[in-house]
Amino acid sequence: MAEESSVPAIAVTAAVGAVVLLVILLCSVGKKNRKEDKDDNASEQKEEKTAVKTEKTSKKTKINLKPKRTQHVPFSHSWSATTLKGHSAPVLSCDFSPNGKYLISVSEDRIAMVWNIKDFSQKEHKFTRANIELDHATKVKFSPDSKAFLVNLYNGNTIRIFRIGKKEDGTMGNIAATFEFPKKHEAEIIDMGIASNGKFVMTCTGDTSIIIWSIKGEVMANIDTHQMNNSHAAVSPCGRFVASAGFTPDVKVWEVCFDKSGNFQEVKRAFELKGHGAAVYSFGFNNDSSRMASVSKDGTWKFWDTNVRYDLGQDPYLLLTGTLKYKSPCIIELSPDGRTVAIASENSISMHNTSDGAEEGSFENVHSAAITELSFDTLNRYLVSTGDKHIQVFHNIPGYRATIADLQEKEKKATGQAMRERIRQQVKDARSSLDNIINKSVNGVAVS
Ligand SMILES: *[C@@H]1O[C@H](CO)[C@@H](O)[C@H](O)[C@H]1NC(C)=O
Ligand SMILES: *[C@@H]1O[C@H](CO)[C@@H](O)[C@H](O)[C@H]1NC(C)=O
Ligand SMILES: *[C@@H]1O[C@H](CO)[C@@H](O)[C@H](O)[C@H]1NC(C)=O
Ligand SMILES: *[C@@H]1O[C@H](CO)[C@@H](O)[C@H](O)[C@H]1NC(C)=O
Ligand SMILES: *[C@@H]1O[C@H](CO)[C@@H](O)[C@H](O)[C@H]1NC(C)=O
Repeated sequence: MAEESSVPAIAVTAAVGAVVLLVILLCSVGKKNRKEDKDDNASEQKEEKTAVKTEKTSKKTKINLKPKRTQHVPFSHSWSATTLKGHSAPVLSCDFSPNGKYLISVSEDRIAMVWNIKDFSQKEHKFTRANIELDHATKVKFSPDSKAFLVNLYNGNTIRIFRIGKKEDGTMGNIAATFEFPKKHEAEIIDMGIASNGKFVMTCTGDTSIIIWSIKGEVMANIDTHQMNNSHAAVSPCGRFVASAGFTPDVKVWEVCFDKSGNFQEVKRAFELKGHGAAVYSFGFNNDSSRMASVSKDGTWKFWDTNVRYDLGQDPYLLLTGTLKYKSPCIIELSPDGRTVAIASENSISMHNTSDGAEEGSFENVHSAAITELSFDTLNRYLVSTGDKHIQVFHNIPGYRATIADLQEKEKKATGQAMRERIRQQVKDARSSLDNIINKSVNGVAVS
């Protein structure tokens, strides 16, 4: 009897000890972060080191510790279209399907959710979910046919492919894992992509390595980016290029070459974005890869014309340089039509048009944690951001405005009455859909 009662006593002591330890741990993590915040104005080199360290710390601790700021006020803004709720842990990545129907998200809760874009204007958001067995995904991309998706596994550090089934009525059915690529990377994978022609998959790590894979998971090529530490890599939407940014002040772009019968030949240097004065954090393409946007530690973002004869030695043209108001690392995304740029840093977002680069909209405290991904839908209507367990969806207001401005330009140049009349009608329609959105969101905010 005495022995039995002493067991709970020990358990209680151990539990109390554990709680005390946890509290100490939480406090010291908090202090460290505050100290790092204060070090904002330290020299360039020191800032770089801190940034790398913070990344590591967060990766190690994010599984065990609760998010720091739990008292997050729900985000609202007149440009906000909706908030997608369903995940129970931070969402790390999302992707719009090429067929324009779905958004997929992956979270630390080991779940992938597929959302209907059609529902974004509704109150209810249905989703189809899939479990990422024994792991969680840090990145997700739809396959070109929108019938499958790829995830990067956090623990596995490789790619797993999922097939999306179809029910008899044509709606989305079961989602099942089909196979996994072999593990080939030593360092942690930070980015992943699949070519729109289905010819290859790309993975990129935080050191200087990129692997080009066949769709079956065979390694076709290894690239050393020579950028000290890669910060971002992507496959261009046209499916021809792989680009990477890192510690050096350029964005390197390679062409992945196949012969006429579709056999892989080689990866060769195509062109570079040259002009930034410090490390490039991130970049994005428009839908036909004729435009790119980049953002750098030098305090600027740049908009480029990449529709050049690089095979004849032509360099991309710099179209615009914008000033950043953010001091921390940034993510940049270019809309598919190339008219809008979104920039995220920590938990803030700014939106700009690419005709003059001025800021058109700005959102603060969008998520209770740092933003992990930004993405525009294929039709340029929405911008989504991920960071905490909710997904924020914004109307792409600058995109609507820029479309109207473009149409008005066309109207001026139009020859013939019929043509002019038609464009005038298009302007009217575009105006009224923008009015509709603005009126609706103003009402929405007033009601809630
Ligand atoms: C950092 O520098 C900026 C200007 O360079 C200054 O306005 C700001 O107060 C400084 N912040 C700290 C924490 O020293
Ligand atoms: C940067 O690269 C070095 C070696 O190339 C590697 O050891 C380190 O983990 C990398 N840092 C990050 C944040 O990936
Ligand atoms: C790219 O976007 C433009 C404008 O929205 C559209 O007309 C065009 O069809 C799109 N191209 C591709 C390859 O998706
Ligand atoms: C771009 O944004 C600026 C700043 O808000 C605005 O003055 C300009 O009219 C916009 N241009 C277009 C084409 O929408
Ligand atoms: C939007 O609101 C404005 C002002 O309240 C009004 O003049 C306009 O007709 C409305 N537009 C639509 C499409 O509801």
